[in-house]
Amino acid sequence: MVRTAVLVSGDGTNLQAIINAHNYGKIKNCHLAAVISSKPNAFALTRARNAGIPTFVVNYANFTSRHAFNEAILEKLRSLDIELVVMAGFLVVLGSPVLEAYENRIINIHPSLVPAFCGEGFYGIRVHEEALNFGVKVSGATAHFATAEADMGPIILQKAVPVLEGDTPKMLQKRIMEECEWKILPEAVSLYCEGRLEVVGRIVHIREAKE
Ligand code: GAR
Repeated sequence: MVRTAVLVSGDGTNLQAIINAHNYGKIKNCHLAAVISSKPNAFALTRARNAGIPTFVVNYANFTSRHAFNEAILEKLRSLDIELVVMAGFLVVLGSPVLEAYENRIINIHPSLVPAFCGEGFYGIRVHEEALNFGVKVSGATAHFATAEADMGPIILQKAVPVLEGDTPKMLQKRIMEECEWKILPEAVSLYCEGRLEVVGRIVHIREAKE
C-alpha cells in the first residue's frame, strides 16, 4: 500500500473525489494516511475527519517565508512516512526542499489544459475567467507531477470539455470539476499507486495494468 498524503487549502471537492473513488475500490494499492491543510478552517479538513483520515494543519500564515513553510511540510511528510503527495486545491506553490525530496512523487491537479492558463497566480476561478476572456472553445483539467515551475511538470492525464455559448466562469469551473478534475485526479493517484507510471524526461508513460 502506498502511504499517501493529500494537501488541501479550501473546499476539498477534489479530496472528496479521491475519498469516494477509494471507497469504491477505484484507487488501488493506496492508503490515505493523512490530509494536511495550509489553512486551519479549510472545509476539506471536515471531509477528511468524516472519512476517518488523520488531519494536520501546517498554517501558512504562521510562517515568515515560503522556504520555512516547505521545511515544515517536509518534516510532517517524513514523520508520517509518506510516499506519495497529492495536491488537491493546495493554495501554496511547493518549492525547495519538498520538491527535491519528492521528485515525481507529488501529483497536482490544475483546472486547465496545460500549458494554457497555468503558472503562478493562476488559481481557482481566475483560470476560468482567463480562458473565457481568451475565447477558447475547449478547456479542461490536467493531473501532473509537480516541479519547480508551477503547473508545468510532467503531464499524467488530461481531459477536455467544450466551452459553451453563454458560459460564466462559475459554469465552466463546475463543468471542469465534475467532468474532468474529479475523474482524472483519482485515476492518476491509482496509476501511481499501481506502479504504472514511468517518467522519462518530461514524458509520462502509462503501462498496461497487470492481469
Ligand atoms: C480546483 O478547481 C483545483 O483544480 C484548483 O483549485 C480548486 C480547488 O477546489 N487548483 C488550482 O487552481 C491550482 N493551480 P477544491 O478545494 O474543491 O478541490
